[in-house]
Amino acid sequence: MAELDEFISRLPKCELHVHIEGTLEPELKFALAERNGMRLPESSVEEMRASYTFDSLPTFLTRYYDGMRVLRTEPDFYDLAWAYFEKAAAQRVRHAEIFFDPQAHTSRGVSFHVVVRGLRRAALDAERRLGVSSALIMCFLRDFQAEYAMATLLESLPYQQWIIGVGLDSDEHGNPPSKFAEVFARARQEGYLLTMHCDVDQQGSVEHIGQCLHDIQVNRIDHGTNVLESPELVAELVRRGIGLTCCPISNTWVSGDSKAGSIKSLMDQGVSVTINSDDPAYFGGYVEENLVLVAREAGLSRADLATLQRNAIDISWAPPVVKRNFRQELEAVSQPG
Ligand code: ADE
Ligand code: ZN
Repeated sequence: MAELDEFISRLPKCELHVHIEGTLEPELKFALAERNGMRLPESSVEEMRASYTFDSLPTFLTRYYDGMRVLRTEPDFYDLAWAYFEKAAAQRVRHAEIFFDPQAHTSRGVSFHVVVRGLRRAALDAERRLGVSSALIMCFLRDFQAEYAMATLLESLPYQQWIIGVGLDSDEHGNPPSKFAEVFARARQEGYLLTMHCDVDQQGSVEHIGQCLHDIQVNRIDHGTNVLESPELVAELVRRGIGLTCCPISNTWVSGDSKAGSIKSLMDQGVSVTINSDDPAYFGGYVEENLVLVAREAGLSRADLATLQRNAIDISWAPPVVKRNFRQELEAVSQPG
């Protein structure tokens, strides 16, 4: 087992599902609160970490949105992203596609410009100083109105060279993909790539996956493991080469099951599944810990683990040179002996 963990550690990694606001560790939360003259209800890092217990998507989201109130200035967003990039580099993440939630900030008076510039500056430094390539994906909050998402889409256009795609996150209950069909059609027209959360075990999960594939025409799906309930949709994912960005540790908090078995089954059926971290500061595991968990629970081999990384770089939106270098490194590391 230690040997497999060591193999996982050596693998080059590609992360496709991480919310930058979900990487806000308690230590940085306290530091930013102090910088911005704010008081937090917890009196220590340990107390804060111990309070992170969730039993559903909404219970997590309440904590997540509350936590990000300490993010106010461009340096705050820079520091948040830089801290993530340092952790990612230490786990051999070579490429990361990073979600951010502009409406969670603009709705409390922080400008779009401040958010995007801080994240972008950190991404440039990460490329130069840590060798981590990255791209930003702007998520709309699905529990807000579609009109607000459209306004946010239009606000993003001057920054389009820094944002590769758009996504949809937050509370899925009563907020299906179809609510945002017009927004995503416009986003595609503007040149953005498309993804959407279909969180695990939500009411209407399978129907939402169908809408993503047929009405929205997404390029990939975030989570989406409930597709296993529909052989037709599984076949369609395989046929169209549409991948899933799965997050096993997050799943244990949101639905009480890592879905490692579903992930392995989908992989065996030829779906491009990938393993990612979602909100690591809250769920307690970055990409490497997620790979270790799924390897243990689903009994993955070295070849399976290499396949997961190959899937990730294949369905990523990375430039060709990044893909080529990644595949070369992956091949060298995963050679037997
Ligand atoms: N926002 C941040 N993390 C999320 C998740 N796991 N599901 C939906 N929205 C989110
Ligand atoms: Zn997510």
